[in-house]
Amino acid sequence: MKRGWAALALLMTSCAGPQSSLDPAGVQASRIHHLWWLFVGISLFVYVAVLAVLAWGSRRRSPSPPTPVIRPDATTERKLKLTVSSAMAFSVALLFLLLFSDFLTGRALHTLSDPVAAKILVVGRQWWWEFRYDDISPSNVLTTANELHLPIGRPVQLELESRDVIHSFWVPNLHGKRDLIPGHTARIFLQADRPDTYWGQCAEYCGYQHANMRFTVTAEPEDDYQKWLVSQRADAAEPTTDQQRRGKQVFLGATCVMCHTIQGTISQAKLGPDLTHVGSRPWIGAGALTNTRANLAGWIANPQRAKPGSRMPPNPLPSENLLALVDYLESLK
Ligand code: CUA
Repeated sequence: MKRGWAALALLMTSCAGPQSSLDPAGVQASRIHHLWWLFVGISLFVYVAVLAVLAWGSRRRSPSPPTPVIRPDATTERKLKLTVSSAMAFSVALLFLLLFSDFLTGRALHTLSDPVAAKILVVGRQWWWEFRYDDISPSNVLTTANELHLPIGRPVQLELESRDVIHSFWVPNLHGKRDLIPGHTARIFLQADRPDTYWGQCAEYCGYQHANMRFTVTAEPEDDYQKWLVSQRADAAEPTTDQQRRGKQVFLGATCVMCHTIQGTISQAKLGPDLTHVGSRPWIGAGALTNTRANLAGWIANPQRAKPGSRMPPNPLPSENLLALVDYLESLK
């Protein structure tokens, strides 16, 4: 028995962390978390009650020969009827309780609304996420990839779209799942109340690299969030060394410009992630690799090795050009 409780405790502690719906960090996730515990509690109670009744019914009886019963007397029959109907009524009441609390939680999830701290367009693609922070001034609109930043304690509005197949946006610590259906815009509100970096994950099978369709959500104090906005809105940094200048020329002269944007350069294509501040991101390939020089060089040379099926083709560049390109991209903080 002791071992059972220890195993359960171990299981529950492993449920906390940056990608767990059992460790809520926002008001909506807390509501879903409460609902989850209610469902677990009631299901556990029903399970134990059924086992107890089963055990009581199958207990060993005295070995005396049974007296044949043709028909139970009126009192016994009344008692049996009452027991069965109250058990039925109780089950129905429990089911309605679950239904009703589920309905209330669903409604409560939509109560967060204006004024929102930001309106963010989320676009799911095979297999990465584009995030566009809207602004009334077009020069303040910023686009990033696989990385969300939110101010703590204030709701943000997300509009979810897909450009290819059905994906599902899920940050377990902050909210439930929401599908991204091509041709349809879904909307949710998110609020993070505890500063940290959480993992998000595509939660609908969308092809070969579905598991590598991840993103991070950094919830931070308002000041840090504003600083991040300012840094991300700026055009890409100009190269400061010869090596970086060469890297920029490699980028602009190779096929990179056919898919990517680097603000402040002529590269303005929208097929792949915006790379204006790629050097500031901790991950590349939508969570497939950490953003180190070696990983970035390997990724550019052959993305198919780390993420087979990825839409990005291999780029067989001479090694001096590849290293210069990596230097340039890493300088784009
Ligand atoms: Cu996108 Cu799974």
